[in-house]
Amino acid sequence: MKFFIDTAEVDAIKALIPSGFVDGVTTNPTLIARSGRNIKEVIQEICALTDGPVSAEVTALDTKGMIEEGKRVADWADNVCVKLPLTWAGLEATNALSSQGIPINVTLCFSANQALLAAKAGATFISPFIGRLDDIGEDGCDLIAEIRVIYDNYGFDTQILAASIRSLEHMENCALIGADVATAPPSVIRDMAGHELTDKGLAAFMKDWEKTGQSIL
Ligand code: G3P
Repeated sequence: MKFFIDTAEVDAIKALIPSGFVDGVTTNPTLIARSGRNIKEVIQEICALTDGPVSAEVTALDTKGMIEEGKRVADWADNVCVKLPLTWAGLEATNALSSQGIPINVTLCFSANQALLAAKAGATFISPFIGRLDDIGEDGCDLIAEIRVIYDNYGFDTQILAASIRSLEHMENCALIGADVATAPPSVIRDMAGHELTDKGLAAFMKDWEKTGQSIL
């Protein structure tokens, strides 16, 4: 399972690089706005930090505008992945840009039918938003499971990129279901390492070690 980092905060991504867990990065207009930075500058800086795909979202709403913006964004760095919304225009733009070899992440997916269309249009990644489905009383992870079945039924190579991940439970469930990628905020990735019994066990080991008066170096 690949881990993408869902942020436009360059320092937060830098801090995660030594872990080896940064397989890519996803951004969206909200995250860019939150960073307070220029989109081209921030995307280029992030692209220099990782060889993995870095999703940058277009903001045009019509097919022609999305294609133009998508081409522009794809020129910013070799590892840019153009992010397009799951609208009819977004699917047309996915079809046009993917047939020119430009990798596409189709975002804002909330149904299995939408995911099926994105795969047929040639998306490299489909981004189902699981947290936002939970917000309206559904189980977002059920959608990941449905898409997994559909893509496996037909051998689509579009990768399931679970997005809007907010909890450790989301991460665990996505891994159990077989999402290809999970994109999560840095805090969620870091929290995955924690367990109360690890902390307790380590404290006990250190207490006993002190009693020996030894040092390894
Ligand atoms: O990956 C999509 C993500 O940025 C949206 O997350 O928590 O705003 O639903 P959220």
